[in-house]
Amino acid sequence: MNILIVGAGGREHALAWKIAQSPRADRVFVAPGNAGTAIESGVENVDISATDVGRLIEFSKQNSVQLAVVGPEAPLAAGMIDALGEAGIRAFGPSKAAAELEASKVFCKNLLRHADVPTADYRTFTDATSAITYLTDREDVPVVVKADGLAAGKGVIVCDNRDQAVAAVQRIASDREFGDAGSQLVIEERLEGQEASVLAITDGQTIVTLSPAQDHKPAHDGDQGPNTGGMGAYCPTPLVTDQMLGQIEEKVLVPTIHAMKRSRRPFRGVLYAGLMVGTQGLKVLEYNVRFGDPECQPLLMRLKTDVVDLIEATVDGRLEEIEPLVWDPRPAVCVVMASEGYPGKYENGQPIRGLDEASKLPDVKVFHAGTATADGQIVTSGGRVLGVTALGNSISAAKLQAYTAVKCIRWKGAWCRKDISDKALQ
Ligand code: AMP
Ligand code: GLY
Repeated sequence: MNILIVGAGGREHALAWKIAQSPRADRVFVAPGNAGTAIESGVENVDISATDVGRLIEFSKQNSVQLAVVGPEAPLAAGMIDALGEAGIRAFGPSKAAAELEASKVFCKNLLRHADVPTADYRTFTDATSAITYLTDREDVPVVVKADGLAAGKGVIVCDNRDQAVAAVQRIASDREFGDAGSQLVIEERLEGQEASVLAITDGQTIVTLSPAQDHKPAHDGDQGPNTGGMGAYCPTPLVTDQMLGQIEEKVLVPTIHAMKRSRRPFRGVLYAGLMVGTQGLKVLEYNVRFGDPECQPLLMRLKTDVVDLIEATVDGRLEEIEPLVWDPRPAVCVVMASEGYPGKYENGQPIRGLDEASKLPDVKVFHAGTATADGQIVTSGGRVLGVTALGNSISAAKLQAYTAVKCIRWKGAWCRKDISDKALQ
């Protein structure tokens, strides 16, 4: 079967790498892909943007694509799964209506409240004045101010006090720093604790929970500095015990899937719960409706089950037939290497050296994210450039191997966090 993957990041490289290993895959296309998918065995890049649904449909028809996998949130929120389905192409991911769970924080919080899923207390607002009145009238406690819509992970402002919260409201609702994403906002109680990412695959009836992972959102070691798309991840995380995972299924995932069905938005695809595990117990911070990036990289490195079987069963609504997933028992650690200046401004086009040397190390896979090919060389082409991922007999062994590979790779201004997975070892 011919399979199309939509997207250009590290997550899509990991998906392409894993899907191409399936005996069920004939041709594997990535649109538009990156320099890593361009050289991946059994994978072909297609020069079509991840949002150009018209050309993606035309390409799929011409090339007998029988299954499409959409990686990023923007095309999901814009209704790409619906459009592919209408064109007769089976596609993995939620419908536009179901993708609201990520695309609107107001929708997500209201659904969580109705489904009685534990989440931070919150209020929603449609203008700056009422939000500021609310902040001024209540006790000065730490809150988080969130733009309703998609803002590439930047529309969430964690505040220590009222002054910061008022400034955050002004940025989101008055200055419209995140555009229309700020037409509504959520103000919620600030939670303390450790974050975990629990991803599950569901066809709307059956839920298959994946091994729990942990991301590292802040740019610098010790969780300092500005938020990023994610500077590294590892899985499994000891933060989420088996018993806790059972509770997450029962109290979080199952009621959410039921609530989506009741609100006539049946959910199919990857349901990613961002959780806070802390003194107040376990609470949902947010939902994403896709694989996390970089969580996808260590997850797929450990998954032994044929991912094409899993994806196809989800699309066809027969996930209950799938055997329990088989995992490599070894943990995996993914270290993101980034461009100088990220998550602020950065320059593209720096030639990357040492990729071959790193790839020769045992149990290492270098997933590309922001890379391109120029004059026959692989160059940087984004803020997050590579996701260097390794398996090891323990988390510390996987970490050591990932950083050994990182040391082989260099370009002008390359940097990474040095403490990925340390939270597991504390
Ligand atoms: P979100 O996109 O809603 O997950 O928010 C992005 C990041 O902001 C999360 O990964 C957390 O680090 C932080 N965050 C969001 N909501 C809260 C909260 N209620 N309390 C503390 N931190 C939060
Ligand atoms: N790793 C966080 C995300 O994919 O949103």
